[in-house]
Amino acid sequence: MAPDVFELSAPPVNSIVGHLLELGQDPLGFLTRCRDYGDIVPLQLGLTPACLVTNPEYIEEVLKNRHNFIKSRGSRALKTLLGEGLLTAEGESWFWQRRLIQPVFHQKRINKYGEIMVEYTNQMLQTWHDGETHDIHADMMHLTLQIVMKCIFSAEVDAGEAKVVANALDVAMQWFESKRRQNFLVWEWFPRPENIRYRRAIAQMDEAIYKLIQERRHSEEKPNDLLTMLMEAKDEETGQQMDDKLLRDEVATLMLARLPTLEDLGQLVYTQQVIKESMRLYPPVSIMGREAAVDTHIGGYEIPQGMSIMISQWVMHRHPKYFADPETFQPERWTPEWEKQLPKGVYFPFGSGPRICIGKGFAQMEATLILATIAQSFQIDLVPEYPIVPQPSITLRPEHGLKVRLKQMALDASQDGKHQPVQR
Ligand code: HEM
Repeated sequence: MAPDVFELSAPPVNSIVGHLLELGQDPLGFLTRCRDYGDIVPLQLGLTPACLVTNPEYIEEVLKNRHNFIKSRGSRALKTLLGEGLLTAEGESWFWQRRLIQPVFHQKRINKYGEIMVEYTNQMLQTWHDGETHDIHADMMHLTLQIVMKCIFSAEVDAGEAKVVANALDVAMQWFESKRRQNFLVWEWFPRPENIRYRRAIAQMDEAIYKLIQERRHSEEKPNDLLTMLMEAKDEETGQQMDDKLLRDEVATLMLARLPTLEDLGQLVYTQQVIKESMRLYPPVSIMGREAAVDTHIGGYEIPQGMSIMISQWVMHRHPKYFADPETFQPERWTPEWEKQLPKGVYFPFGSGPRICIGKGFAQMEATLILATIAQSFQIDLVPEYPIVPQPSITLRPEHGLKVRLKQMALDASQDGKHQPVQR
């Protein structure tokens, strides 16, 4: 007979509701303490038998088997908001949706959103000023909402209907005590993929550049800038100058060359290391739930039907067995060789198995482009002593926001084009 999961060592039970109070009060701390009890830690959550899985092989075993381990009751509660969408669906319905939606998130198709991501980040940076204190969490929520609204609805967050949708989301997210915005919207987005955004963006840009060129042509003033220099440039032999079309192309090239583009993504090595390390210490999804749909096994242990299975990125990502100095932020640890030796089931910010996050590529691209775009212009320092309190709801968030001070960088010609912070 397979060993019984309830015979494994467990934290002491201090109340009639089992471990429910401790889990409710401090889920991350409590689950981290549970880690010391073993690979599978039996828990009692009110009347529901549950367990925390801390062995990476077992974690993979659970996440791979979507038939025996279905989404937890907690995830199913989301159905009131999300209906039968991809995140909450099960069985054949999920499988059909996933097959249909997967191509929409193919890297080639989401690449075009990169321009929107950079564009909105730059718009945000226009409103930032040297020396200001910002709640960077609020700024990022607003920015990513703008981006996702643009990508999904082709709409500005502050305008008309989009504002209504944004507000509705806000209310719903508060109701769930947390926000998992991308997941709500993907289903809304599914029947209306956008194909014309790129061309529209170029047309708008063209309109703006041609207007500038025309204004400059008819203006008495000739500011000492690149446009003037380009307009005045003359072929020494033939005297020919650039026509408007070529000027437009040069201006566009110069403007875009200053932005980190998708082609840069592969080169933004340190940026990507910073993002990986940030998601290690602060995984947006910090606890995932499953439920045994049938009597089954994990790692050879008997798991009864109806048992809740908890898997925690927070607990695994800070596991001292796999991460040297686990509580320290060390982006440099993410070398390709080191990553290769990391067992599966230890680091999984986007989940694993058949239900792995469908927006993974989109989210990684967004984080990389936003961070690289901001870091070109600003240095961001935490306001000292500001309390950072991780609050795990559906997604992890800083309970009191995240206060930072902005330091603007200027392009210093003596530094080979590298940005140096300007001390003002
Ligand atoms: C840093 C950002 C993100 C993180 C850390 C993240 C994390 C996750 C995780 C851990 C899961 C698996 C949940 C489970 O197995 O129970 C998941 C599923 C999912 N995510 Fe994300 N996600 C992110 C961004 C996005 C974005 C941008 C989108 C869409 C635009 C998205 C759409 C989805 C969907 C639809 C599912 C359900 C997939 C399925 O069940 O087949 N996510 N996400």
